[in-house]
Amino acid sequence: MMLLRYKKTYEKIAMGLLSYMPGDKTVKKLQETILQYETNDSWQLYLIKKDDDFIGLIGIELGDDSYTLQHLSVNPSFRGEGIGKEMVMKLQALFPDKKCFGTEETDSFIQRCKSKEEGADL
Ligand SMILES: CC(C)(COP(=O)(O)OP(=O)(O)OC[C@H]1O[C@@H](n2cnc3c(N)ncnc32)[C@H](O)[C@@H]1OP(=O)(O)O)[C@@H](O)C(=O)NCCC(=O)NCCS
Repeated sequence: MMLLRYKKTYEKIAMGLLSYMPGDKTVKKLQETILQYETNDSWQLYLIKKDDDFIGLIGIELGDDSYTLQHLSVNPSFRGEGIGKEMVMKLQALFPDKKCFGTEETDSFIQRCKSKEEGADL
């Protein structure tokens, strides 16, 4: 499975995956979030593809020495298979020198990834 950087043609699928995040799921809010990733260079959104389907999304806000995991979601049909953790690890591999921080929403999952042996470098 590969992480692919978001592009405009992925907008609908990205909004669908974003809607699994807790909080405001109105179309307006989802569009604002997508716009943030499209227009702000320090915000980066990636999707993960399995066979022909995009099944997960991960979005970060980049800082100088760190990044903050803002959004993470996996299609409910594919949860519990390690895809969430795989996205966190692949993203960290893109930014090996940066430290990963969570938000109120994503921190508990990051802690879970860190607690596993192979996630120790996060
Ligand atoms: C969180 C999420 C991305 C995990 O995706 P996933 O592919 O199922 O993750 P993994 O298979 O790598 O790990 C699954 C484990 O994480 C646990 N988990 C799920 N959400 C969690 C959370 N918010 N905090 C801590 N652990 C969590 C699951 O209970 C599961 O535990 P188990 O293996 O002991 O049963 C997915 O549940 C999701 O899309 N949730 C809705 C979006 C969301 O709430 N995002 C914010 C939290 S990151």
